[in-house]
Amino acid sequence: MSYRVEKADISTFDADTWVVALSENTPLKATDALNERLGGLIAAQQEAGNLSAKAGEVRTLYTTDPTIKRVIVVGAGELPQTPDGCRKMLAAASGKLALEKAARHAAVALAEVCTENRDAAWQASQWVTALEASRYRFDHFKSQKEEARELDCTLILTENEADAVSEAVVQAEAVARGMALTRDLANTPGNICNPIYLAEQAQDMARTYSTLKTQILDQDEMEALGMGALLAVARGSVNPPRLIVMTYTGPGAEGQSPDIIVGKGITFDSGGISLKPGEAMDEMKYDMGGAASVFGTLKALCEMNAPVHVVGIIAAAENMPDGNATRPGDIVTTLSGQTVEILNTDAEGRLVLCDALTYAQQLKPRSIVDIATLTGACIIALGHVATGILANDDTLAAELLEAARTTGDKAWQLPLWDEYDEQLKSPFADMANIGGRPAGTITAACFLSRFTREVKWAHLDIAGTAWVSGKDKGATGRPVPLLTRWLLNRAQS
Ligand code: BES
Ligand code: MN
Ligand code: ZN
Repeated sequence: MSYRVEKADISTFDADTWVVALSENTPLKATDALNERLGGLIAAQQEAGNLSAKAGEVRTLYTTDPTIKRVIVVGAGELPQTPDGCRKMLAAASGKLALEKAARHAAVALAEVCTENRDAAWQASQWVTALEASRYRFDHFKSQKEEARELDCTLILTENEADAVSEAVVQAEAVARGMALTRDLANTPGNICNPIYLAEQAQDMARTYSTLKTQILDQDEMEALGMGALLAVARGSVNPPRLIVMTYTGPGAEGQSPDIIVGKGITFDSGGISLKPGEAMDEMKYDMGGAASVFGTLKALCEMNAPVHVVGIIAAAENMPDGNATRPGDIVTTLSGQTVEILNTDAEGRLVLCDALTYAQQLKPRSIVDIATLTGACIIALGHVATGILANDDTLAAELLEAARTTGDKAWQLPLWDEYDEQLKSPFADMANIGGRPAGTITAACFLSRFTREVKWAHLDIAGTAWVSGKDKGATGRPVPLLTRWLLNRAQS
């Protein structure tokens, strides 16, 4: 896949596949120019009722033209589009393009399809994200693999803005590579993707990028430090845990205090002794989706050589039941010194994260953001649409929400009030690891907040957004766009 950006003449530009739009309220010059070149084909098909200008509807026209083999015509609805409307249009068009197996060179002429408060660079970046997502395949474990198809894509501009758009495309390509890694890791099953596998991935990445350094803590080292909560989760598994620390130092960012992103890396969550019900338990291989998004974000930063200083920390463990496993009622001492009564071994994410957060806090960062498939309750609250954000600092939350609005990687803030924290009281230890059914996402975040009192911290609950269920189940690569955008914005401010 390669991208070019050009202010080209539509009446002569050479491409076998075109992507143009129809709007319900605005004539589009690019579509008209292509229509003329094709002897009125588009207008005739529209007249015949074969095309639609409705937002997100899409058709392919096949031609007998010697160079232009096919035209993908997508409905743009009314202009200006909303950002969501634009994304819907781009998803429809890129989805169709990804299905056109014979397409080798696509010309995308959508630049004049305007979106409220967004420019051509933003649209181009959304296009790259959509097309790369449509072309993603996970056939690593299929014996019959689909042949990789080369496709060049030229974004046709209407204004002289090639530099800004090109830069956006380069960044979006980097993010897409990061997202593909996130999806690969989260799709890889627990019999392969275990904590040691994740540690090896980190070491591989450090070999690939000179800007990235990796440090791995094994079980003995974690014991010596006193990470009693993380180790309690790993006890029931034959796969030993790892704490993975990756440091990315971009150009000019040396010596700057880092932002730390911490990922929940439960490579399989059976629930432990508080065993989960069997239905869809296979999906708990993606309980390292937070860790996968840390990998993906770091990869995106490496690929674009971003001028930021970021540490990624992954708490990797497998949550299994056996004779050695932690029991409900067990009390452990965390790295922070606080004690926890483990009432439910299925609330394991917060246990691995609390020790990773204490470790992160000791590095004196500018901020910490953790990313975790933490609670089923978050899916009940926000569905599969939005990531839950909880933070001890409203400016940090606002920054993350702003990045989410830009990328379309939707997020929504939930409150972190003291009243909720009451639910974590334990008669035997400093706290319990569960707070009952009400507000399960918030009490989980309250638990984490007890380990980040000295630093600006936010928590992203991605239980609903990291994965899609059903017949096309699989990892989404979210929230890599959000995290990458947030880090880039921080570098600019
Ligand atoms: N990994 C799960 C949360 C989860 C559930 C993520 C479904 C994605 C889809 C987490 O470890 C968990 O089991 N949480 C419990 C917490 C409860 C025991 C307080 C939950 O949400 O039920
Ligand atoms: Mn669990
Ligand atoms: Zn879990």
